[in-house]
Amino acid sequence: MIEQIVILDFGSQYTQVIARRVRECNVYSVILRYDTPAREIARLKPQGLILSGGPSSVYAKDAPLPDPAIFKLGTPVLGICYGLQVMAQYLGGQVEPGQKREYGKGTLHLKDRRCRLFTNLPDSLQVWNSHGDKLTKLPVGFKAVAVTENSAYAAIEHRAARMFGLQFHPEVVHTPRGREILTSFVHGVCGCGKSWTMRNYVDQAVEAIRAQVGNEHVILGLSGGVDSSVAAALLHRAVGNQLTCIFVNNGVLRGHEAEVVQEVFVRHFKIKLQYENASRLFLQRLKGVTDPERKRKIIGKTFIEVFEAATRRAGKAKFLAQGTLYPDVIESVPIGGNPAAMIKSHHNVGGLPKNMRFQLVEPLKCLFKDEVRELGLELGLPREIVLRQPFPGPGLAVRILGEVTPRRLEILRNADAIVVQEMKATDWYYKIWQSFAVLLPIRSVGVMGDERTYDYTIAVRAVESQDGMTADWVKLPYELLEKLSNRIINEVKGVNRVCLDITSKPPGTIEWE
Ligand code: XMP
Repeated sequence: MIEQIVILDFGSQYTQVIARRVRECNVYSVILRYDTPAREIARLKPQGLILSGGPSSVYAKDAPLPDPAIFKLGTPVLGICYGLQVMAQYLGGQVEPGQKREYGKGTLHLKDRRCRLFTNLPDSLQVWNSHGDKLTKLPVGFKAVAVTENSAYAAIEHRAARMFGLQFHPEVVHTPRGREILTSFVHGVCGCGKSWTMRNYVDQAVEAIRAQVGNEHVILGLSGGVDSSVAAALLHRAVGNQLTCIFVNNGVLRGHEAEVVQEVFVRHFKIKLQYENASRLFLQRLKGVTDPERKRKIIGKTFIEVFEAATRRAGKAKFLAQGTLYPDVIESVPIGGNPAAMIKSHHNVGGLPKNMRFQLVEPLKCLFKDEVRELGLELGLPREIVLRQPFPGPGLAVRILGEVTPRRLEILRNADAIVVQEMKATDWYYKIWQSFAVLLPIRSVGVMGDERTYDYTIAVRAVESQDGMTADWVKLPYELLEKLSNRIINEVKGVNRVCLDITSKPPGTIEWE
């Protein structure tokens, strides 16, 4: 069984971050609900257990509480914030509401250098706090190993039992040496090796796919996005010609998208690709439609129709593959609006039919997005595909306000190509969540040379975000904005004005429709 750390989720917004940090140490991690029975956890034979933070108070009526038997498994335990409090309370300590909430940066002072979590770290460290309650009495066998201004028990340990508690959050970037603390826990305390790498994962995944699929055929809807592209490359590695990818051109793709996909997957990877050019059908149905919701519905419904017909033509396949990721399958904790649970449901899955004449293959379902990208590179996919920004299923249709017409599509494709080019040239493309052009169907007056113009406006949208749920607009350098504006106005016929969208989400959304 693969070495792993089990993380019990008590509803912290950082639970997934903890899981990712552990994996960055090349150790596999899984997130389970806080109340997962100890015997179920024991079955996984984890090397260590991490109890996440959470928004509740341990003494609240509906506080999420773990199975007490987890503290008798003999597995090393690290409790973070609420995790520390819940562990301490179970083991006989005392938690009380703090005089004042400790929130934000603090300084941790080490009192006991022998604690293995802090090996090689200096005596004082910057840490990030976010808690109201505090521990006021240590459980038996524990001692304080570090303090902050507000807390005499900022880090505690029971050395013999290999149990640790941290009142601060080592997983967030605002605890700059936090990674080293987690590294010490997983390698030093739990004794994990470094078995979790994408190179190893390829072999495991290939074996698992072969075992599941046997001699049967698999169909995959390839969108050209990161997830389906990596899934395609992985499945192809596992089952070769038993895989058929279906790529639907819905008429609202970016310029050259269909060519890029064919170049990469057909010519380079030699993957069987069924190219469904349905652009005419989509554009016909979109004719005269201006309402954003109707546009989305038409595109979604037409996609299913086209895809279903394509699967029938693809021949006899028993399996349908999907690029589902780990954040989509983590069971949510229904407390205090846990963001880990609020991953966009209406967006993520490509809206495929619930038609279960297929069995599902989901070879990415235990991976985080950054791992999927790494896996893609490992499989030899080009950076151009692997480092792509997200692109919405309904494509450019949600970036053309008002009616989608061939002329408007052409204008937006040309403007979009310039935005992508310039963002890549300055590397901004790779640093942020998304950057794109939006076509506003209003016209304004301008002057070009000696002529008066009356043309469309392009809005440039650039946002940073962790997961698309919230976002902030990016303060791009003026020089870059100037270049974007000059190039779009000079090179894209039909545009004479460029604006910058400076709206965060909320209250705005990332896409305009
Ligand atoms: P919004 O506009 O809701 O977008 O703030 C959040 C993120 O989701 C992407 N998005 C979609 N992705 N199908 C998708 O696959 C969709 O219908 C869709 N709509 C929005 C958007 O690009 C952003 O990254």
